Amino acid sequence: MKAIRIHEFGGPEVMRLDEVAKPTPGPGEVLIAVKAASLNPVDYKTREGKFPPVKADQLPLVLGRDVAGVATAFGEGASALAVDDEVYAMLPTEVGAFAEWVAIPARLVAKKPKSLDMLQAASVPLAALTAWQGLFDHGGLRAGQSVLIHGASGGVGLFAVQFARAAGAQVFATCSVGQKALVEEIGATRAIDYKNERFEEIARELDLVFDLVGGETQDRSWRTLKRGGALICTMQEPDQGKAEAAGVRAERYTAEPRGDQLAEIGKMIDDGQVRVILDKVFPLDEAADAENHLQNDHVVGKVVLSVGG
Ligand SMILES: NC(=O)c1ccc[n+]([C@@H]2O[C@H](COP(=O)([O-])OP(=O)(O)OC[C@H]3O[C@@H](n4cnc5c(N)ncnc54)[C@H](OP(=O)(O)O)[C@@H]3O)[C@@H](O)[C@H]2O)c1
Repeated sequence: MKAIRIHEFGGPEVMRLDEVAKPTPGPGEVLIAVKAASLNPVDYKTREGKFPPVKADQLPLVLGRDVAGVATAFGEGASALAVDDEVYAMLPTEVGAFAEWVAIPARLVAKKPKSLDMLQAASVPLAALTAWQGLFDHGGLRAGQSVLIHGASGGVGLFAVQFARAAGAQVFATCSVGQKALVEEIGATRAIDYKNERFEEIARELDLVFDLVGGETQDRSWRTLKRGGALICTMQEPDQGKAEAAGVRAERYTAEPRGDQLAEIGKMIDDGQVRVILDKVFPLDEAADAENHLQNDHVVGKVVLSVGG
């Protein structure tokens, strides 16, 4: 089968279209014929050897964490799905999605939302699970609370705004000026232009900051929280001294593949509560151009690879 692999760390030029062995499903696994795979910043961070830690002796490595496709075969004990089910999943780190086939634990997979095509479905798993787990599992967000989401027009942020709004929260969200209308249309009470407005003068006494940006944005966020609030981040470990001084809880987390949460998210999508926003689609053999686009072109929503026919 065809797969996009890296044999060394570096820029998009290290991504190669290779011919590799088709996987066979082990116990509890499903074999998926990949129809689409979406990109996430973790793909170029992995390619550059930055995150998650990959040792040189683990190369070559197939990139990609998100798939949508068709279940075609099962290992022993993987019985919750049937052949020809259309599915989507976030892959565990040891498996790569930029390939024609993947074999992964069936418990990580959910049926694809019926209202989405394969390209849209592949855009959901990692970004939506990151948003869901950050807001609810780690952030404890509830109806009636207020949240500030930094990086609202990116892959994770667009889901986070919609989930927070659907949960009944008041949503403040930072993004570029050109994306303010979109971010308010999908659920933010107030979108804040991160270059020309000071979010800390607009959003105060918050229950939660969901930080997809880090750095000085995080540093300026402590004063927006009420005592007893929380700052949850996907980037660097928050400074616990600053958290203590602000009287808040602070945490960095890593999103996990979860088939059960994807099934719940899929219902919200099919109910029309959550929209999927695509930026651009590339064919598998242009994966390097797709990564370059995600990394450098201020994308809005998700960049996707079209894989199978
Ligand atoms: N820990 C985990 O498990 C986990 C999971 C998923 C993602 N992440 C990380 O979380 C981050 C976000 O992921 P993503 O997929 O949403 O990335 P993305 O699609 O690249 O989006 C990033 C967004 O941040 C915006 N942005 C940049 N600087 C900003 C600022 N100062 N204030 C407000 N917004 C700003 C960008 O807008 P403009 O382009 O308009 O500047 C862009 O829309 C990435 O670094 C990713 O690696 C971690």
